[in-house]
Parts: sequence; structure tokens; C-alpha cells
Amino acid sequence: MGEWVYIKDIAAHVGKEITVKGWVYDRTDKGKLQFVLLRDGTGVVQCVAFQRDVSPEIFADVLKLTQESSVVVTGKVRADARAVGGFELSLTGLEIVQLTQDYPITPKEHGIEFLMPQRHLWIRSAQQHAILRVRAEVIKAIRGWLDEHGFVNVDTPILTPSSCEDTTTLFETDYFGAKAYLAQSGQLYNEATIGSFGRVYCFGPTFRAEKSKTRRHLMEFWMVEPEMAYVDLAGCMEVEEQFVSHIVQTVLQNCAEELKVLGRDTSRLQKVLPPFPRITYDEAVKLLNEKGIEFKWGDDFGAPHETAIGENFDRPVFVHHYPTAFKAFYMEADPLRPDVCLSVDLLASEGYGEIIGGGQRTASYELLEQRIESHHLNREAYEWYLDLRRYGSVPHSGFGLGLERTVTWICGIHNIRETIAFPRLLERIYP
Ligand code: 4AD
Ligand code: MG
Repeated sequence: MGEWVYIKDIAAHVGKEITVKGWVYDRTDKGKLQFVLLRDGTGVVQCVAFQRDVSPEIFADVLKLTQESSVVVTGKVRADARAVGGFELSLTGLEIVQLTQDYPITPKEHGIEFLMPQRHLWIRSAQQHAILRVRAEVIKAIRGWLDEHGFVNVDTPILTPSSCEDTTTLFETDYFGAKAYLAQSGQLYNEATIGSFGRVYCFGPTFRAEKSKTRRHLMEFWMVEPEMAYVDLAGCMEVEEQFVSHIVQTVLQNCAEELKVLGRDTSRLQKVLPPFPRITYDEAVKLLNEKGIEFKWGDDFGAPHETAIGENFDRPVFVHHYPTAFKAFYMEADPLRPDVCLSVDLLASEGYGEIIGGGQRTASYELLEQRIESHHLNREAYEWYLDLRRYGSVPHSGFGLGLERTVTWICGIHNIRETIAFPRLLERIYP
């Protein structure tokens, strides 16, 4: 038995006998010659078994191999430019850990209705594997950049007594006889922790009972939320464009193989470098109308509007100064024109729509108090949040980047549901 090696490291073992532990992806039967595609989570390698070169027992076992059987294979590594990954394993030993029968997901095309309940198995397939690898790389890039740029990671609670965003999307739960809600965002708590650290971020799951079925919404999604004291709207946009560019460029560099599996045209992603264009909501409305799309000032953009705006630019675009009326209660009003606020959304390129929401927060105690009242929020639950405007209030800004929206865009896929291992969708919580 050779040394156990992960397929990603196989290049360092050419000419040696090694052991690979994994699952059978496919087997091609050419009579005396058997080709077994083996995957181990880090890569795929072709194992070749020639009847003449192995014992009759081993060859008989090779002939039994079915898709997704778990196996421990020993073989000699050969460099072969024609093989997947550039290497081949000449099989010398085989231990069948489990012979799988009737694996439900065959290489033929399956519909989404069939695949979704098989998600626990579907994640093994090449495309899903690639998407989830990109996701892991995005997470690494997010943390790497923030940690390097003076942001302290302070995570915020998931069980909360009050809402941050739209109260109609709250998941309610019982908290020892009192009402509690699953967090829609960690922002309000971040606004407290900047008082201790200056720059912070939280990164975790957030929850929204989105009662519509779209390809951009999940009920449970991950959001990274940086928050910064003494930073205004313009400063916030500068951080966002550096941050997003870093994420995209890191994935391009470290996930070339995965993006190839996904058939991603990377030329558009290569352009994602600062500065990003900035337009006001007013300008965005004009742009839509010029494109012949009917849209009234004061309405919120839907997915088709975001797509139409985004398609006008070769990189992500900031839309800022939205109408105060439909944005969240904590948005700072423009001092010269209070009907608009210091909010900013970042719309991804190629029509992928909003990936970031954020902006400058209300710093004034009086204005925040009015907003809590006019939004019919339970004041008691927000006393602590008002305290932040009582004791050393400062101008501050922050934003939330949706992890799955970002991964959908970078992977160039159609639907957000494939960017998380086990998506929570409208009326679907299995598996
Ligand atoms: O625009 P949103 O609602 O902003 C906030 O929650 C702020 N409190 C964030 C902040 O300033 N700290 O959400 C932020 C991002 C969106 O741009 C989107 O990428 C993602 O979160 N998002 C969702 N992703 C998947 N499914 C959903 N249902 C989402 N809702 C929001
Ligand atoms: Mg938003």
C-alpha cells in the first residue's frame, strides 16, 4: 500500500505508488481495459486497470464498480497530458469499502424538482462541487480583506427582540413566553460595537421570510456586514469597491479550475476593479425611462429594473440617494433634501442585481426617535439603540454584502439556490 495522497497533491508523486481514498465517479468498460474516474473531494483522477497487469481477483472487483461506490485505490502515478488533471493512476490494488447500488443521480440530465430533494447527494456532482468551492474561497477572501484592513470581527446575535429591516419578513419564535425574531441583519448591534472598536464586521446567517419565489431570494442566507465610525457615504462606497474587487480578483486567481467547470466567461469579471461608477437614484430612474421602461420616481426597483440598470455598465454600479420613504428607518436623510437618504446599493454587473445594501446611518437622537415612531416600531425594544445617539454619537456608515448573491454572480449561474449546501426555500426545508 502506498502513502495516502489527496488527488490535488498527486503531481508531487509521479512514478510512485500511492493510495487514493474516494468515490467512483464513472467507469468506462473497454473489455480488458477498465477506466475508473475517482474523486476524493479535492479532485478527479482516472485510474486505469489492465487485465494483464493485475490479479484476477482485483480485475473482477474493478468490473463490479458502480457509480458512487466508495473505494480505496492503490496505483502508480503517471503523467499523461490527455488525462483529466494531467495524471493517471495505473491501478495495482483495490479495496471496495461499499458497493453502491442504484445511485439516484445518474449522469443524464435531471430536473430541479428531482434534484432539490436529493440535495444531500447532488452536492457531489462536478458543478455543485465547483460552486461550493467558489463559495468557500469567497468567504476566505471576505475575512482576509477585512482582517487586513482594521476591521474587528464581532458577531451579533441571531435571536433578537426587534427587527432591523422590513417587519413583514420576520421569522418569529417563542423566547420563554416572549416574542423573539431570527436576525434579519446584525447591523444595529454593529452600530454599538463600533463604539468600542471603530471598525467592525459580523458574518453569519440571516433570516427573512420572503413570501415570494424568486431566483435571488433565500429564507436563510449569509451576510457580511462591515460598520465604520467616522465614515460617510462617499467613504463607504470607497471601501465597498475595494472589498468587492478583492473578492472577485481572488476567486479569479484561486478558482480558475472551478470557473472552467462552470463554463464561466471570466473576461467580464476581470474588469471588476475600482473605481465603480456611481449614479443617483434620480439618474437611475432617468436611465430606465430613456430605455423605454416605465418607472415612477418614488417606487422601489424590482429585479428587472436592477438588471436593466446594471447592464449599462461594464462593472458593478453604485446607486445612491434613494427616496427616504421606502428605505429602512435608520437611514440618514440628505441634509439638503430630506426626501432622499444617504443610502447606497451596489448592483452587480451582467444584470445580476443588488449584492450590497448600506449607507450612512442616522446620527441624530431626535431624528431617530421620530423614525422609530413613524415606522411604528416598538420603542422599548430600541432604547439601547437610541442610547448610541445619546452617548458619543458620530457619523457612521456600513453595508451588508449577501454571500449567496455574490457567489451566484461570480459563478455566472442562474439561480441562488445552488450557492448554499442546503438552501432554505419557500415551503422547502428538506433535506
Ligand atoms: O439590503 P439589505 O436588506 O440590507 C441590510 O440588511 C442592511 N441592514 C445591511 C447593512 O447595512 N449592514 O440586505 C443586504 C444584502 C442584499 O444586498 C442582498 O445581497 C442580501 O443581503 N439579501 C439576500 N440574499 C439572499 N436572499 C435574501 N432573501 C436576501 N435579502 C437580502
Ligand atoms: Mg437592499
